[in-house]
Amino acid sequence: MHPDIQEILVSEKAIIARCEELGKKITKDYEGKKPILVALLKGSVPFMAELMKYIDLDLEIDFMDVSSYDGTESVGDVRINKDLSNSVQDDDIILVEDIVDTGRTLKRVIEFLYQKGAKSVKVVSLLDKPDRRVVKIDADYVGFKVPNEFVVGFGLDYNQRYRNLPYVGILKRECY
Ligand code: IMP
Ligand code: MG
Repeated sequence: MHPDIQEILVSEKAIIARCEELGKKITKDYEGKKPILVALLKGSVPFMAELMKYIDLDLEIDFMDVSSYDGTESVGDVRINKDLSNSVQDDDIILVEDIVDTGRTLKRVIEFLYQKGAKSVKVVSLLDKPDRRVVKIDADYVGFKVPNEFVVGFGLDYNQRYRNLPYVGILKRECY
């Protein structure tokens, strides 16, 4: 285990098994459809890569990069740093997130995708921190619920570090 990690919350094995379950469920739910998986950079990349192996559909992938203004918790708006590469007009979108925390990012990005003409938008998130929710919004598919702790790994970072850890763990308090 990495020396900055206090405790592993979700093991690599558990993440892979859950991706398989979610992938099969999405395959069933979207039968006959050609959804576009839209991952939010950068945290969602490892999760999308694992999840899509288990989605047996004729799908496409795309990426967006968004960030909160200033990164302060009090500010509720998000800025689009990188837009989609292709049109999503009349498409079924599956938005792939690393974690739903306050819910602000999700709300803005869903609105944005509908403005772009998406037919439907559903959300799959590796993690959910329900205690922190400010905006009334939930992911349609959730990997794991986590307590109100700062977590890193499997894509999630602290100051761009720890994204490469193969598990999700609680970062030691002295590290941030
Ligand atoms: P929201 O708009 O507050 O739901 O923000 C979600 C975003 O905040 C996620 O996509 C993460 O980038 C980041 N985030 C929230 N909680 C954590 C955490 O515990 N560790 C790392 N990043 C987090
Ligand atoms: Mg993020």
